[in-house]
Amino acid sequence: MQVYLNGAYLDASEAHISPDDRGFLFADGLYEALLAYHGRILLGEPHAARMRAGLTALQIDTSPADRLLELGERLVALNQLTDRPALIYAQVTRGSAPRRHRFPPAGTPPTCYLFAKPFASQPAELFASGCAAITVPDTRGSRCDIKTIGLLANVLANEAAHAAGALEALFVRDGVIIEGSHSNVMAVIRGELVTYPSCNYILTGVTRNCVLDLARTMGIPVREGPIFASEVYAADELFLTGTTLEIMPIAHLDGRPIGAGRPGPVATRLFAAYRQLSQ
Ligand code: PDD
Repeated sequence: MQVYLNGAYLDASEAHISPDDRGFLFADGLYEALLAYHGRILLGEPHAARMRAGLTALQIDTSPADRLLELGERLVALNQLTDRPALIYAQVTRGSAPRRHRFPPAGTPPTCYLFAKPFASQPAELFASGCAAITVPDTRGSRCDIKTIGLLANVLANEAAHAAGALEALFVRDGVIIEGSHSNVMAVIRGELVTYPSCNYILTGVTRNCVLDLARTMGIPVREGPIFASEVYAADELFLTGTTLEIMPIAHLDGRPIGAGRPGPVATRLFAAYRQLSQ
């Protein structure tokens, strides 16, 4: 596998990062995960814009965001992934410098790393049956809008889901289901598509925004507002959106059925429209 590291394309076995890298020492960096179909990145501009906004917030050089799509597509081609779906992972950190909390000296180059690998969707049977999810308290901070590599709470939440035989863990903050460990959450309540508003407590997903646009185009009413954990079982549908989970219906939450306990018509229609974008 060919990867990109700091200006060079090289074999993955040749890619080395210093133990002084601030990504390793402080989780001082961010990442993007993108899909490519037929060698072209899906929804590339919003991914690049989110990376640019995140780098700006972290006061890291934004030039990796300017080159994200070019580097990603080049890697897809180099790894001969143009004939199948590919997942591109891109990470930028504040670079390598002796450990101290404040920023390293000006001019310290950021570390920029990308890899691409074949992307396998979740099994078709899971989309057909709907998945299980659990709820967990949101123990994260208040800058969840930045796609930081500091993902410890997300990792622990996702592991708890896995241990419970579920696919995803949904973070609950002040009684409201706000997002998943690596996805956004949407509900259909009394005919409206409801999802938590874009703010500092969630990562505003590229897939989320795309699905909201698709819903508006299809005439489905959209509301950015709370999904109360206490009322979620009255929802007709609940589903996840994200680059890797695509649009995944939730059939059971904490062991109880949502709606009819199987995927509903809104998620099914939106998923069909979303899949069309990658044709
Ligand atoms: N995660 N919320 C969180 C916390 C996420 O980590 C992600 C994506 C999303 C959905 O964002 P998008 O639709 O832009 O993929 C929401 C990626 C896929 C990951 O961590 O691998």
